[in-house]
Amino acid sequence: CGIVGCILKNDDDVAPILFDCISKLEYRGYDSIGLATYSEDKIHIKKDKGKIKEVDNKLNLSDMPGNYGIAHVRWATHGDPSKLNSHPHVDERRDVAVVHNGIIENYLEIKEKLISEGHVFKSDTDTEVIPHLIEKFTNEGFDLEHAVRKTVDIIHGTYAIAAISINEPDKIVATRKDSPLIVGIGGEGYYLASDSPAILKYARDIIYPEQGEIVILDKNGVVVHDEFDNPVSKEIETINWTPEMAEKEGYNHFMIKEINEQATSVRNTLTQREHIQEIIDDIDEGIQRICFVACGTSYHASLTGKYLIESLAGIPTDVILASEFKYSANTLNDKTLVIFISQSGETADSLKALDVANETSKTLGIVNVAGSSITRRAEYVIQTQAGPEIGVAATKTYVAQLTSIYLFAALLAKNTELLEELEKVPDFIDEALEDIDFIKEISKRYNYARDFFYLGRGYSYPTALEGALKLKEITYIHGEGYAAGELKHGPLALIDEGIPVVVIAPPGDSHRKTMSNLEEVKSRGANVLAIGSADDDALKTKADDIITINPEVNEIIAPLVYVVPLQLIAYYITLEKGHDPDKPKNLAKCVTVE
Ligand code: G6P
Repeated sequence: CGIVGCILKNDDDVAPILFDCISKLEYRGYDSIGLATYSEDKIHIKKDKGKIKEVDNKLNLSDMPGNYGIAHVRWATHGDPSKLNSHPHVDERRDVAVVHNGIIENYLEIKEKLISEGHVFKSDTDTEVIPHLIEKFTNEGFDLEHAVRKTVDIIHGTYAIAAISINEPDKIVATRKDSPLIVGIGGEGYYLASDSPAILKYARDIIYPEQGEIVILDKNGVVVHDEFDNPVSKEIETINWTPEMAEKEGYNHFMIKEINEQATSVRNTLTQREHIQEIIDDIDEGIQRICFVACGTSYHASLTGKYLIESLAGIPTDVILASEFKYSANTLNDKTLVIFISQSGETADSLKALDVANETSKTLGIVNVAGSSITRRAEYVIQTQAGPEIGVAATKTYVAQLTSIYLFAALLAKNTELLEELEKVPDFIDEALEDIDFIKEISKRYNYARDFFYLGRGYSYPTALEGALKLKEITYIHGEGYAAGELKHGPLALIDEGIPVVVIAPPGDSHRKTMSNLEEVKSRGANVLAIGSADDDALKTKADDIITINPEVNEIIAPLVYVVPLQLIAYYITLEKGHDPDKPKNLAKCVTVE
């Protein structure tokens, strides 16, 4: 989910700004949208289920009175997407309105108690207990700030909350625990948001509230109190992302824009070399084991890290899914470096694991979003320089993560040859993008498929997994990535006439064996789409279709380049199928629940 809040210094209507800001967070959830504003002793609410555009066409969301308010986009956890379950939620007199991102774990018992006290609930959500609790405490004489504080003393779980109340007009009160929340200071007003792209256009001076701090926004500014009611003086940090970076800039979708920005993403991330060297100088001593922790696409970047670090630096390296970490973290010690890879820096599973790792080990976050929770909690941080990524399926942040990992591994192993190779990667990526027309045509031919297999060996195995994930995420076709050698232990039974098998076969040690695996699927009738070197005549003969890459791209740096056609295939098949690649169903860009 995503939340925003805004209070203007003047008396203009805030709804158009709230709507603009919340629309920028659509990548965080698109099951429903809602706004609440205050004017003339009343809280006004417009909300419904559906994508932002649909709901806006129906309700005209920018047309609401009042110069302050809150808004929400929902990624459903408790309760179906429906109008009643949409935020903002209110108490029955509509004295209080609340937007919430996160999960209230003990909401059922709170709800039962409130019902027994006479409160009437309308939705199936966990959130609805919050406005009722705030109402209860304001009735007991607490002001809004303290009613919110009393409320968060009762609720367990994760939350970023913003609340308004008719009893205390011209004020927004917000707080957070384990869910992201930033505060923006702009020329025209003050802002709250789950993520910076929401408010970049209005405010780039940002305050990052810590866990449990209470933020009070009014016309005159922002006040932050700690959990003991003491005022906290917060540092203001300026974001170096521009509003244009979070716009489509003429592209049809964010995803294709972001795929096209990958050379820049790599180039900009290569500038982190010195900073990475400093981190290595600081922690290298005594590190006996490295452990990557991540989810989704970031997990695939981590897998590539294992191959690199083990083969180049000889340090034993594990890769653990963040959601599985707590079940396998028993052998960490102070000689372990735990590396967290995350584009958002807010993934709840990764944050939980980070807290565990911080107890025993050195921790390093490789994160794209400045100021995000992982950057604040990890001991060391490398910021990937991909710029804001809006498409739900990660593309340019993936190559930026890989770039950081390659730099880290090459510097750790003092491998100057690889460092030089990396400088050429942006050009290789741009060349790989030149094949777009051919990929569009292939996508038309392959969009019939119900299953796809992706095969790769060694460095290309994580690429196979990532290709399959991109396909699943946005085309809704079943895609399975396999280590090519593992094929004969099961999936070969599924290969039939016409099943598309994407074979990732860059030049290098793994090539010969990958070719044998290609033969195995081919002889069972598979339709082989190969990605390989433009010089690879054997591959050209054997494959049904081939997408070629510059022959200089060997298997070691291939993960940074060979992923590009795989992203494009997923993108163009999605267009063929008529789906929206930026907003795949059931998914969200930032997953702040475990
Ligand atoms: C979500 C996103 C994916 C991302 C994953 C991990 O599922 O849709 O694109 O790979 O979370 O997110 P992180 O922010 O930790 O990289």
